Amino acid sequence: MPVDRLGTRSWRRALLALGLLLACGSGAAQPALLVGTAWYPEQWPQARWPQDLELMQAAHLDVVRVGEFAWSTMEPREGVYDFSWLDRAIAEAARRHIYVVIGTPTAAPPAWLTSKYPDTLRVDEDGQRAEHGNRQQFSFSSPRYRELARQIATRLAERYGRNPDVIGWQIDNEIGPPSFDAQTRRQFHDWLRRKYGSIANLNRHWTTAYWSQTYDGFDQVPMHSKDENPGLLLDFRRFVSDTWTSYIANQSTAIRAHADPRQFITTNTMHWGNQFDQQVLSRELDMAAWDEYVPDGHFVWLDQAVQHDLVRGYKNKDFWLMETQPAFVNWWSVNRALPPYAMRELAWQAVGHGADAVLYWQWRSALNGQEQYHGTLLGPDGTPVPAYGVVREIAAEMARAAPALAGTSPRSEVAMLQSYDSRWAIDAQRQQADFGVVKEFDAFYAPLEHYAQSVDVISTDTPLTGYRLVIAPALNVLSEAEAKRLADYVRAGGHLVLGPRSGMKDAYDALWPQRQPGPLTSLLGGRVEQFYALDATVPLTGVLGSGQASIWAEALSAHDPQTQVLLRYGKSNGWLDGKAAIISRQVGSGSITYIGAWLDPALMQNVLDDFLRKAHVTPLVPGVSDNVEVCERFGARKRVWILINHGDDPHTIRLPSPAAPVLSGNPAVSTAAVALAAHSIQVLEAPLR
Ligand code: GAL
Repeated sequence: MPVDRLGTRSWRRALLALGLLLACGSGAAQPALLVGTAWYPEQWPQARWPQDLELMQAAHLDVVRVGEFAWSTMEPREGVYDFSWLDRAIAEAARRHIYVVIGTPTAAPPAWLTSKYPDTLRVDEDGQRAEHGNRQQFSFSSPRYRELARQIATRLAERYGRNPDVIGWQIDNEIGPPSFDAQTRRQFHDWLRRKYGSIANLNRHWTTAYWSQTYDGFDQVPMHSKDENPGLLLDFRRFVSDTWTSYIANQSTAIRAHADPRQFITTNTMHWGNQFDQQVLSRELDMAAWDEYVPDGHFVWLDQAVQHDLVRGYKNKDFWLMETQPAFVNWWSVNRALPPYAMRELAWQAVGHGADAVLYWQWRSALNGQEQYHGTLLGPDGTPVPAYGVVREIAAEMARAAPALAGTSPRSEVAMLQSYDSRWAIDAQRQQADFGVVKEFDAFYAPLEHYAQSVDVISTDTPLTGYRLVIAPALNVLSEAEAKRLADYVRAGGHLVLGPRSGMKDAYDALWPQRQPGPLTSLLGGRVEQFYALDATVPLTGVLGSGQASIWAEALSAHDPQTQVLLRYGKSNGWLDGKAAIISRQVGSGSITYIGAWLDPALMQNVLDDFLRKAHVTPLVPGVSDNVEVCERFGARKRVWILINHGDDPHTIRLPSPAAPVLSGNPAVSTAAVALAAHSIQVLEAPLR
């Protein structure tokens, strides 16, 4: 028995370890990679549960998420709790070696709650109060709702916080819509008061002399999400982010008070959702998690890859795929099924980009309710549908690969900066309707991912040391502090590339009184003379190749003799003719570059390849086809390659060093030449030298 200064702790630790060993009745440690499903036992008779769990076991599933919409079953009347069913569901799952993640049920308040406390209901921007019957009908700022949410979360944590079979918590479910009720408005005013101190300060930063917007007091400030002063709009988004963060913190604090530290706390978020700042919110969580859907059933690997990297960046560590679709969804115009091979590619891609669990939504069709057509693993009759077989194969493979993947994570030498402030600012005033910030982000991501095969997507306050190349695709809002960090990075030898619209606005969404890129202009030794929205393409040519700009073009100028023009516009609208489109300045061993135009994909690839080479970024596995995705996860002494052929043709991949096959083949025979059939996956493990 280990002895430490507080002998009692050793005992506690030992008991805890014993508890973990006994968890799931398996005697085995939790696998490094889990596959599971969203299970709703409250919708079915208890007598059916063993059969469900046995079918899960037969499909090699390791985890179920339960409870996240079951408030009316947990607390059928106010203050009257019934957890006996959940006790039993967890125990039955554990008996079949299936771990449990508990979702707090606050996305779906019971009818007794919303009828007794109508003030907890959300009000939309047009003043309409939500009604019962859907979900997310609560107001995120309501003190009463938070108190009720805290109570149910506390009850759950008191009961299951030490349960060895419960491995984690999901708070609520896909939070997002704000409320525009009177309480929220008061809180918005308090938030502004805390931020600005005086109304004069707010008036100054928002330039409220414009259109007589000047306020005499915080109470006069309206609360809108569109058609408003940009300063107000940006602050409203930040207020919403802070309010959702405190909403989550209300429950995470309640859970942490009773839960073992080994139980993670997360919430499941939605892809590129921009209703709040997911990076800020994630500070309250132990781990990020997201729900990945391909509603049209057409899996485009780069579109999905970037989203995994985005989510991994919320906490700069591995995450969970808390939900994904068994073949198809029910909420698109044509809910096409993913082909079986695409389900497998999707699952392995998630793991390649840092997911440590993949859960399918949902286990069995509910007989009624809004999602009767959604893909499942079991049909309403309780027997497997075709997707079950595919998931069973995926789960079997993942079980085989779990030991190799233990303790590994992706890592990258290339970072892309993702700023909610900038997204919100551009979205509020696009100037060119096609300037989608996500679309533009993807336009930069695709060539980077093609070349480097690993990209981190991080917030602007993540430390940049260690990155060879940092790209900020449209860093429209650039605070003084952010600019300083970027300048320090460049001066320390880093290579920074700014995309169009960068450095236009300060932290209050006011225009910088100097031209773009604002506080980085002198480091760049050049600036934006004027921006132009395009409705036709503009030719481009220079030392980085030639091609076309569309959607957006900025005429640049260089005032420092060391600032080079790398690309110029050809003849177009008269304003852009012959003007610089990309300028770059060497700063010691680092550099700063400004790309002023939305480039066509081939030119973008040329341009970024050049910067990647200059920054000495090397591909993980050189020379692979565009349809082959290379992912790599690193551990202390090993590297694991996940190779996914998304294409219809076979390929042979040459690894930089021999590696042992993990999924199929003889693990004792390492090879550097890997044959990848069409739409196939190989996982290989090699010692890290
Ligand atoms: C998610 C949600 C699930 C389910 C699913 C259907 O967004 O979290 O509860 O509704 O969509 O695709």
